Amino acid sequence: MSKNLVELLNINKAFFGVIALDKVSFDLIPGEVHALVGENGAGKSTLMKILTGIYQRDSGEIVVNGEPKEFPHVRESMKAGISMIHQELNLVNHLTVAQNIFIGREAEFSSRFFQNDNKINQKAKEICEEIGIDIDPEIEVSELTVAKQQMVEIAKALSTDSEIIIMDEPTASLTNEEIRDLFTVIKRLKKQNKGIIYISHKLEELFQIADRVSVMRDGNMVDTFPIEEADEDMIIRKMVGREIKIKPPTFDESKFGKVALEVINLNSGDMVKEVSFSIRYGEIVGFAGLVGAGRSETMKVIFGADHKDSGEIRIDGNPVTINNPYDAVNNSIAYLSEDRKSEGIITTLPIFENISLPKLQDFLKLSFLLNEQKEIKNAEEMIKLLDVRTPSSAQLLQYLSGGNQQKVVIAKWLSSNSKILIFDEPTRGIDVGAKDQIYDLMEELADQGNAIIVVSSEMQEIIRLSNRVFVMAEGRITGELSSKNISQEKIMSLAVNRAS
Ligand SMILES: Nc1ncnc2c1ncn2[C@@H]1O[C@H](COP(=O)(O)OP(=O)(O)OP(=O)(O)O)[C@@H](O)[C@H]1O
Ligand SMILES: [Mg+2]
Repeated sequence: MSKNLVELLNINKAFFGVIALDKVSFDLIPGEVHALVGENGAGKSTLMKILTGIYQRDSGEIVVNGEPKEFPHVRESMKAGISMIHQELNLVNHLTVAQNIFIGREAEFSSRFFQNDNKINQKAKEICEEIGIDIDPEIEVSELTVAKQQMVEIAKALSTDSEIIIMDEPTASLTNEEIRDLFTVIKRLKKQNKGIIYISHKLEELFQIADRVSVMRDGNMVDTFPIEEADEDMIIRKMVGREIKIKPPTFDESKFGKVALEVINLNSGDMVKEVSFSIRYGEIVGFAGLVGAGRSETMKVIFGADHKDSGEIRIDGNPVTINNPYDAVNNSIAYLSEDRKSEGIITTLPIFENISLPKLQDFLKLSFLLNEQKEIKNAEEMIKLLDVRTPSSAQLLQYLSGGNQQKVVIAKWLSSNSKILIFDEPTRGIDVGAKDQIYDLMEELADQGNAIIVVSSEMQEIIRLSNRVFVMAEGRITGELSSKNISQEKIMSLAVNRAS
């Protein structure tokens, strides 16, 4: 009997002739958290999709509990005790939380003639309570925030009683509190001798939760080592194959232009209360706060995606009427929302078409003929700038890794011609090296005279980018910090400040 829960041996996989995995080996022992890290496109998700039967390997061996296995379908891997929390949320929006948790397994709860909703709801409630999440199992998934939807994904995976649990970036959109809850659950699973494969771009998490770390690069397994032997710099070096120097931020207020956007006493429902602030051309302003503080809601109202109860928005000193996103775009405002699914990316279209979607008129040559050459050229520049891993700009978006799809979304907004750019959680799911490239680009956009607002729950990101930071709590701005006096502690104390 092998002591390994899982052994992957020399796994090879190519997509349309492009090698995604090159003789990759990996193992998992009972009671451990084995972290899997690597840049966007390194092959992490692909390896896990092979283990769960979503993709089929070209060659190599899968051994589970000492037995060689074939998983022609996800059902088979589930039967063998493997479950996976996917990077892209896989929930069905119009079903309830409970229906999503037990999707495909409704039969377990049905009598001969009807499905027993009470039983499903009860069981879902138990699971949610067990992992410490506060969600009503009877509401539709579409009504939940992205963070809550992710928790439902986790509940779904844990409900199957698997021995092997794969988590592909489970914390990407969770709050710190929710992450702590998840880690408590993971520790409990470890005690039950289950094995957990944990994929994350947040390297600091590894030191809290991982026992071993494996690093992938360009489809190869670079190294596997116990966490005690690692530090963050070493992991990054192995991931990117070079040193990364995080540039210190520079702020030169003399370069800022006149006030671009001024928001005066904005109110909308419970989440946006008397919000006032302004931003100058050339400036980057951060919005910090806990999830639910009203930051995204404020931005959505400014962008016309949510209803405004009262308040004024001025652009270049003039009051403007923004009733919908179309008005906002006409007033030169762009909003990259945290909910990437609403970004209007079309995964069945090539990369270059996705990048040019928001500003098709720029690519119009002679009446309505699209200038494909120009689109492709722009896309190729963006692909190079952001280091999007793809064979070509004609690749369909759906074939890119999760992080590379994100980069395309960012590229789309970076190439829009708006002068006031709002980025909501811009680097979620993006690897450490690419993050820095995106920061550089945002700074360049500011240097070119654009006004940039960044909403982020990563404090280091806010501190790195912002000339000024507004902190929100319970729908109100509770404080403003300038780059000279920003610190994590100050942000935190304003973020938990109960506004009255
Ligand atoms: N269905 C597919 N068709 C074509 N190419 C694919 C497909 N799935 C993945 N790839 C390619 O395989 C490579 C590895 O992708 P994978 O999704 O495994 O990366 P990853 O390490 O999970 O990255 P990320 O951190 O961005 O999620 C990428 O170059 C990707 O474009
Ligand atoms: Mg992935």
